[in-house]
Amino acid sequence: MQNFEQFLLDNLPKSKSIHPTYESSLQYMLLAGGKRFRPALLLGVVRAYNPLLLDSARHAALAVELLHTYSLIHDDLPAMDDSPLRRGRPTLHIAFDEVTAILAGDALNTYAFEVLSDAPFSDYTRVRLIRELASNGGLGGMVLGQAIDCYFENKPLNVEEIKFLHTNKTAKLVAASLKMGAIIVGHEELAETLYEFGVKLGLLFQIQDDILDVTQTSEEAGKLTNNDEDKNSFVTILGLEESMKQANDLADELTHEMSGFDENLQGELLSLLSKYINRHKN
Ligand code: IPE
Ligand code: IPE
Ligand code: MG
Ligand code: MG
Ligand code: MG
Repeated sequence: MQNFEQFLLDNLPKSKSIHPTYESSLQYMLLAGGKRFRPALLLGVVRAYNPLLLDSARHAALAVELLHTYSLIHDDLPAMDDSPLRRGRPTLHIAFDEVTAILAGDALNTYAFEVLSDAPFSDYTRVRLIRELASNGGLGGMVLGQAIDCYFENKPLNVEEIKFLHTNKTAKLVAASLKMGAIIVGHEELAETLYEFGVKLGLLFQIQDDILDVTQTSEEAGKLTNNDEDKNSFVTILGLEESMKQANDLADELTHEMSGFDENLQGELLSLLSKYINRHKN
């Protein structure tokens, strides 16, 4: 991911103006790091099928990371999860102020689509990618999930409903990252297979995140933990033991599904997912 980090540095949002902190607020959370899980998924698919397209694919990977980073900045706001720590740093509304954090999020959201619109693909591929990111990251995806997450604080949902919540909040963007890789390499059938696989992977990722909320310190996580008590997190609703079981079952299912993928793709995903697939057990 070294090349991706360099690409990100070369393409940071820039806007010189009379505003003394606007530009640094746009860059602050991007420069704080993060796992870059979604870009790694997208680039892993491209590397498996056509490494010559990696330079172009970094534009799309950056777009996904921009949208994800915006979602984190807004997620931490006082009106949402009210969190002071993110990626090991004070959250944007703490380091700057609330207005700045709202606007930096807005700017990164739209910058994601500017980056995708300028990406070196055919018009057809560009529109497909824009649509994928918008529909999974926007009103029928991540934003819907966040809306349900916040509306139903202290109002317990049933298991089907929490799956719906987390599928939208987290899994669809993870699934879209894999699918966008398949769109870039022009593999239509794979795009659908990877989307379904990605929804399960994204759910696993969120169950793990909910488990880590109760098993890690804020210092270990780099973000405020023990912050999900009012939420419909998997752990709050199902308990830690059942959440661990569901995570283990999903991890097994995903490992089994991966064995049916083309060899190169298996190699890419196995090396990436080996870091993540059991992270709830650490
Ligand atoms: C955190 O995402 C929010 C969830 C959807 C669980 P990540 O765990 O990918 O956060 P970063 O990008 O590494 O900071
Ligand atoms: C947020 O889920 C998912 C987003 C869409 C940003 P969480 O609220 O559980 O994420 P963390 O734990 O703050 O990273
Ligand atoms: Mg949240
Ligand atoms: Mg949160
Ligand atoms: Mg969480």
